Amino acid sequence: MRIKKAVFPVAGLGTRFLPATKAMPKEMLPVVDKPIIQYAVEEALAAGIEQIIFVTGSGKSALEDHFDTNLQLENTLKERGKTDLLRTVESVAPHASNFVYTRQSEPLGLGHAIWCARDIVGDEPFAVLLADDLIQSEVPVLHQMINEFDRLRASMMAIIVVEQEETSRYGIIEAEQGFNGTVQVRSMVEKPAPEEAPSNLAVIGRYILTPRIFDHLGRQDRGAGNEIQLTDAMSSLLTEQPIFGYKFKGRRFDCGDKAGFQMANIAFALERPELRKQLLPGLAKLVSSAGSAGA
Ligand code: G1P
Repeated sequence: MRIKKAVFPVAGLGTRFLPATKAMPKEMLPVVDKPIIQYAVEEALAAGIEQIIFVTGSGKSALEDHFDTNLQLENTLKERGKTDLLRTVESVAPHASNFVYTRQSEPLGLGHAIWCARDIVGDEPFAVLLADDLIQSEVPVLHQMINEFDRLRASMMAIIVVEQEETSRYGIIEAEQGFNGTVQVRSMVEKPAPEEAPSNLAVIGRYILTPRIFDHLGRQDRGAGNEIQLTDAMSSLLTEQPIFGYKFKGRRFDCGDKAGFQMANIAFALERPELRKQLLPGLAKLVSSAGSAGA
Protein backbone atom coordinates (compact mmCIF):
# COMPACT_ATOMS: atom_id res chain seq x y z
CA MET A 1 0.00 0.00 0.00
CA ARG A 2 1.28 3.49 -0.87
CA ILE A 3 2.01 6.02 1.89
CA LYS A 4 -0.45 8.83 1.21
CA LYS A 5 -0.92 10.50 4.58
CA ALA A 6 1.50 12.36 6.82
CA VAL A 7 0.91 13.51 10.38
CA PHE A 8 2.58 16.69 11.66
CA PRO A 9 2.36 17.13 15.43
CA VAL A 10 2.42 20.93 15.84
CA ALA A 11 0.75 21.53 19.19
CA GLY A 12 3.97 22.22 21.15
CA LEU A 13 4.35 25.55 22.96
CA GLY A 14 7.84 26.40 21.75
CA THR A 15 8.92 27.76 25.13
CA ARG A 16 12.60 27.51 24.16
CA PHE A 17 12.07 30.34 21.69
CA LEU A 18 10.24 32.77 23.96
CA PRO A 19 9.63 35.66 23.57
CA ALA A 20 9.57 35.07 19.77
CA THR A 21 6.91 32.39 20.22
CA LYS A 22 4.69 34.31 22.64
CA ALA A 23 2.14 35.12 19.94
CA MET A 24 3.51 33.06 17.03
CA PRO A 25 3.73 29.28 16.62
CA LYS A 26 7.34 28.06 16.77
CA GLU A 27 6.77 26.22 13.47
CA MET A 28 6.35 29.63 11.79
CA LEU A 29 9.87 30.81 12.70
CA PRO A 30 11.64 31.37 9.38
CA VAL A 31 14.74 29.57 8.19
CA VAL A 32 16.02 32.14 5.65
CA ASP A 33 12.59 33.19 4.31
CA LYS A 34 10.40 30.13 4.79
CA PRO A 35 8.71 28.93 7.98
CA ILE A 36 10.26 25.76 9.43
CA ILE A 37 7.01 23.87 8.91
CA GLN A 38 6.97 24.62 5.18
CA TYR A 39 10.23 22.73 4.65
CA ALA A 40 8.70 19.62 6.20
CA VAL A 41 5.46 19.99 4.24
CA GLU A 42 7.39 20.42 0.98
CA GLU A 43 9.44 17.32 1.84
CA ALA A 44 6.24 15.33 2.34
CA LEU A 45 4.62 16.57 -0.88
CA ALA A 46 7.82 15.82 -2.82
CA ALA A 47 7.66 12.27 -1.43
CA GLY A 48 4.18 11.78 -2.89
CA ILE A 49 2.12 12.49 0.25
CA GLU A 50 -1.44 13.51 -0.64
CA GLN A 51 -2.90 14.42 2.73
CA ILE A 52 -1.19 16.61 5.33
CA ILE A 53 -2.65 16.13 8.80
CA PHE A 54 -1.78 18.79 11.37
CA VAL A 55 -2.36 17.99 15.03
CA THR A 56 -2.59 21.51 16.43
CA GLY A 57 -3.38 23.22 19.71
CA SER A 58 -4.48 26.68 20.78
CA GLY A 59 -2.58 29.64 19.35
CA LYS A 60 -1.74 27.85 16.10
CA SER A 61 -4.14 29.54 13.69
CA ALA A 62 -1.24 31.19 11.80
CA LEU A 63 -0.37 27.69 10.53
CA GLU A 64 -3.83 27.24 9.04
CA ASP A 65 -3.68 30.67 7.43
CA HIS A 66 -0.24 29.96 6.02
CA PHE A 67 -1.40 26.84 4.17
CA ASP A 68 -4.60 28.43 2.89
CA THR A 69 -5.05 30.77 -0.07
CA ASN A 70 -4.83 34.48 0.70
CA LEU A 71 -6.92 36.08 -2.03
CA GLN A 72 -6.36 39.65 -0.88
CA LEU A 73 -2.58 39.24 -0.97
CA GLU A 74 -2.70 37.40 -4.30
CA ASN A 75 -4.89 40.08 -5.91
CA THR A 76 -2.63 42.86 -4.66
CA LEU A 77 0.47 41.12 -6.04
CA LYS A 78 -1.34 40.58 -9.34
CA GLU A 79 -2.37 44.25 -9.61
CA ARG A 80 1.20 45.34 -8.89
CA GLY A 81 2.63 42.95 -11.50
CA LYS A 82 4.72 41.08 -8.89
CA THR A 83 4.48 37.74 -10.69
CA ASP A 84 7.47 36.09 -8.99
CA LEU A 85 6.13 36.83 -5.51
CA LEU A 86 2.66 35.74 -6.61
CA ARG A 87 4.06 32.37 -7.68
CA THR A 88 5.92 32.05 -4.37
CA VAL A 89 2.73 32.72 -2.40
CA GLU A 90 0.60 30.40 -4.55
CA SER A 91 3.11 27.55 -4.24
CA VAL A 92 2.84 27.41 -0.43
CA ALA A 93 -0.42 25.50 -0.57
CA PRO A 94 -0.88 24.07 -4.05
CA HIS A 95 -4.04 22.27 -2.92
CA ALA A 96 -5.35 23.81 0.30
CA SER A 97 -7.99 21.09 0.50
CA ASN A 98 -5.28 18.46 1.11
CA PHE A 99 -4.63 19.96 4.55
CA VAL A 100 -6.61 18.55 7.45
CA TYR A 101 -6.56 19.83 11.02
CA THR A 102 -7.33 18.16 14.30
CA ARG A 103 -6.65 19.27 17.85
CA GLN A 104 -4.64 17.86 20.71
CA SER A 105 -6.60 19.43 23.52
CA GLU A 106 -4.21 18.40 26.31
CA PRO A 107 -0.40 18.51 26.16
CA LEU A 108 0.09 14.79 26.80
CA GLY A 109 3.11 14.24 24.57
CA LEU A 110 4.13 13.14 21.08
CA GLY A 111 2.52 9.70 21.33
CA HIS A 112 -0.80 11.21 22.32
CA ALA A 113 -0.58 13.80 19.51
CA ILE A 114 -0.24 11.03 16.92
CA TRP A 115 -3.05 9.05 18.51
CA CYS A 116 -5.27 12.14 18.03
CA ALA A 117 -4.95 11.59 14.24
CA ARG A 118 -6.11 7.95 14.33
CA ASP A 119 -9.54 8.47 12.74
CA ILE A 120 -8.15 10.64 9.94
CA VAL A 121 -5.35 8.18 9.16
CA GLY A 122 -7.54 5.09 9.35
CA ASP A 123 -6.24 1.62 8.58
CA GLU A 124 -3.18 2.35 6.43
CA PRO A 125 0.53 2.94 6.96
CA PHE A 126 1.39 6.63 7.30
CA ALA A 127 4.29 9.02 7.83
CA VAL A 128 5.06 11.28 10.78
CA LEU A 129 7.25 14.35 10.39
CA LEU A 130 8.58 16.45 13.26
CA ALA A 131 9.28 19.82 11.65
CA ASP A 132 11.94 20.73 14.25
CA ASP A 133 14.20 18.22 12.53
CA LEU A 134 15.14 20.07 9.37
CA ILE A 135 17.11 18.05 6.86
CA GLN A 136 19.21 19.16 3.93
CA SER A 137 19.45 16.41 1.36
CA GLU A 138 19.46 15.79 -2.36
CA VAL A 139 16.57 13.32 -2.21
CA PRO A 140 13.94 14.31 0.40
CA VAL A 141 14.44 12.05 3.42
CA LEU A 142 10.83 10.93 3.49
CA HIS A 143 11.21 9.87 -0.14
CA GLN A 144 14.31 7.82 0.76
CA MET A 145 12.31 6.18 3.55
CA ILE A 146 9.27 5.43 1.42
CA ASN A 147 11.56 3.63 -1.05
CA GLU A 148 12.89 1.57 1.85
CA PHE A 149 9.35 0.95 3.13
CA ASP A 150 8.38 -0.43 -0.29
CA ARG A 151 11.12 -3.05 0.21
CA LEU A 152 10.51 -3.87 3.89
CA ARG A 153 6.77 -3.18 4.40
CA ALA A 154 7.39 -2.42 8.09
CA SER A 155 7.49 0.54 10.49
CA MET A 156 10.70 2.51 10.45
CA MET A 157 12.26 5.73 11.61
CA ALA A 158 15.21 7.86 10.60
CA ILE A 159 18.27 7.51 12.81
CA ILE A 160 21.54 9.35 13.34
CA VAL A 161 24.68 8.68 15.37
CA VAL A 162 24.95 11.06 18.35
CA GLU A 163 27.60 11.69 21.01
CA GLN A 164 27.14 9.43 24.03
CA GLU A 165 26.47 12.47 26.27
CA GLU A 166 23.53 13.51 24.06
CA THR A 167 21.44 10.34 24.42
CA SER A 168 19.11 11.94 26.99
CA ARG A 169 17.70 14.21 24.27
CA TYR A 170 16.51 11.41 21.99
CA GLY A 171 14.78 8.09 21.57
CA ILE A 172 17.67 5.59 21.42
CA ILE A 173 17.58 2.22 19.70
CA GLU A 174 19.42 -1.02 20.16
CA ALA A 175 19.79 -2.59 16.73
CA GLU A 176 21.30 -5.42 14.75
CA GLN A 177 23.77 -4.64 11.99
CA GLY A 178 21.71 -4.24 8.85
CA PHE A 179 21.85 -3.80 5.13
CA ASN A 180 22.30 -0.65 3.05
CA GLY A 181 21.92 1.83 5.96
CA THR A 182 18.93 0.01 7.44
CA VAL A 183 19.15 -1.71 10.82
CA GLN A 184 16.62 -3.94 12.55
CA VAL A 185 15.54 -2.60 15.92
CA ARG A 186 15.84 -4.88 18.96
CA SER A 187 14.72 -2.38 21.61
CA MET A 188 13.99 1.30 22.04
CA VAL A 189 14.13 3.66 24.99
CA GLU A 190 13.11 7.31 25.31
CA LYS A 191 15.75 9.79 26.50
CA PRO A 192 18.04 7.45 28.46
CA ALA A 193 20.89 8.82 30.53
CA PRO A 194 24.24 8.23 28.73
CA GLU A 195 25.22 5.44 31.13
CA GLU A 196 21.93 3.64 30.47
CA ALA A 197 21.72 4.13 26.70
CA PRO A 198 21.91 0.86 24.74
CA SER A 199 23.80 2.59 21.90
CA ASN A 200 24.36 6.02 20.39
CA LEU A 201 21.86 5.51 17.56
CA ALA A 202 19.22 8.21 17.99
CA VAL A 203 15.77 8.50 16.44
CA ILE A 204 15.00 11.74 14.64
CA GLY A 205 11.68 13.09 13.51
CA ARG A 206 10.81 11.04 10.43
CA TYR A 207 8.75 7.91 10.88
CA ILE A 208 6.70 5.52 8.78
CA LEU A 209 4.27 3.62 10.97
CA THR A 210 1.82 0.80 10.42
CA PRO A 211 -1.70 1.51 11.73
CA ARG A 212 -1.20 -1.09 14.50
CA ILE A 213 0.64 1.68 16.35
CA PHE A 214 -2.70 3.29 17.25
CA ASP A 215 -3.69 0.31 19.40
CA HIS A 216 -0.42 0.50 21.27
CA LEU A 217 -0.68 4.29 21.64
CA GLY A 218 -4.22 3.93 23.00
CA ARG A 219 -2.97 1.61 25.75
CA GLN A 220 0.26 3.44 26.49
CA ASP A 221 0.96 4.75 29.99
CA ARG A 222 2.85 7.95 30.53
CA GLY A 223 6.63 7.60 30.28
CA ALA A 224 9.61 9.98 30.19
CA GLY A 225 8.64 13.56 31.13
CA ASN A 226 5.28 12.21 32.33
CA GLU A 227 4.11 12.18 28.69
CA ILE A 228 2.70 9.49 26.42
CA GLN A 229 5.75 8.65 24.33
CA LEU A 230 5.77 7.38 20.75
CA THR A 231 9.01 5.52 21.54
CA ASP A 232 7.26 3.48 24.26
CA ALA A 233 4.36 2.58 21.94
CA MET A 234 6.85 1.55 19.24
CA SER A 235 8.64 -0.58 21.82
CA SER A 236 5.34 -2.29 22.49
CA LEU A 237 4.66 -2.65 18.72
CA LEU A 238 8.02 -4.46 18.47
CA THR A 239 6.50 -7.42 20.30
CA GLU A 240 4.31 -8.14 17.25
CA GLN A 241 5.94 -6.47 14.22
CA PRO A 242 9.50 -5.73 13.11
CA ILE A 243 10.72 -2.12 13.15
CA PHE A 244 13.70 -0.71 11.26
CA GLY A 245 16.03 2.24 11.70
CA TYR A 246 17.12 4.04 8.55
CA LYS A 247 20.39 5.98 8.21
CA PHE A 248 19.31 8.58 5.68
CA LYS A 249 21.53 10.52 3.29
CA GLY A 250 21.48 14.16 4.34
CA ARG A 251 22.40 16.65 7.05
CA ARG A 252 20.00 17.21 9.94
CA PHE A 253 19.56 20.41 11.96
CA ASP A 254 17.75 20.52 15.29
CA CYS A 255 15.56 23.61 14.93
CA GLY A 256 14.07 22.98 18.36
CA ASP A 257 17.36 24.22 19.76
CA LYS A 258 18.66 27.80 19.45
CA ALA A 259 22.12 26.87 18.17
CA GLY A 260 20.71 24.26 15.76
CA PHE A 261 18.21 26.79 14.44
CA GLN A 262 20.97 29.34 13.76
CA MET A 263 23.08 26.67 12.02
CA ALA A 264 20.09 25.75 9.84
CA ASN A 265 19.66 29.37 8.82
CA ILE A 266 23.31 29.65 7.83
CA ALA A 267 23.38 26.30 6.00
CA PHE A 268 20.18 26.96 4.02
CA ALA A 269 21.24 30.54 3.23
CA LEU A 270 24.58 29.28 1.89
CA GLU A 271 22.66 27.09 -0.55
CA ARG A 272 21.27 30.22 -2.24
CA PRO A 273 23.87 31.57 -4.66
CA GLU A 274 22.82 35.23 -4.20
CA LEU A 275 23.06 35.01 -0.40
CA ARG A 276 26.17 32.84 -0.40
CA LYS A 277 28.12 35.57 -2.19
CA GLN A 278 27.27 38.12 0.48
CA LEU A 279 27.43 35.83 3.46
CA LEU A 280 30.74 34.05 3.03
CA PRO A 281 33.01 37.10 3.46
CA GLY A 282 30.83 38.43 6.31
CA LEU A 283 30.81 35.08 8.11
CA ALA A 284 34.58 34.68 7.74
CA LYS A 285 35.08 38.10 9.40
CA LEU A 286 32.61 37.30 12.19
CA VAL A 287 34.21 33.95 12.92
CA SER A 288 37.73 35.36 13.00
CA SER A 289 36.76 38.27 15.28
CA ALA A 290 34.71 35.95 17.54
CA GLY A 291 37.76 33.65 17.71
CA SER A 292 40.13 36.46 18.73
CA ALA A 293 37.56 37.93 21.19
CA GLY A 294 37.23 34.52 22.87
CA ALA A 295 41.02 33.97 23.01
C1 G1P B 1 10.95 13.41 20.06
C2 G1P B 1 10.91 11.91 20.30
C3 G1P B 1 12.33 11.35 20.40
C4 G1P B 1 13.12 11.72 19.16
C5 G1P B 1 13.08 13.25 18.95
C6 G1P B 1 13.72 13.60 17.61
O1 G1P B 1 11.47 14.04 21.22
O2 G1P B 1 10.19 11.65 21.48
O3 G1P B 1 12.29 9.95 20.53
O4 G1P B 1 14.45 11.28 19.30
O5 G1P B 1 11.74 13.73 18.93
O6 G1P B 1 13.77 14.96 17.38
P1 G1P B 1 11.33 15.63 21.48
O7 G1P B 1 12.44 16.27 20.72
O8 G1P B 1 9.98 16.03 20.99
O9 G1P B 1 11.49 15.79 22.96
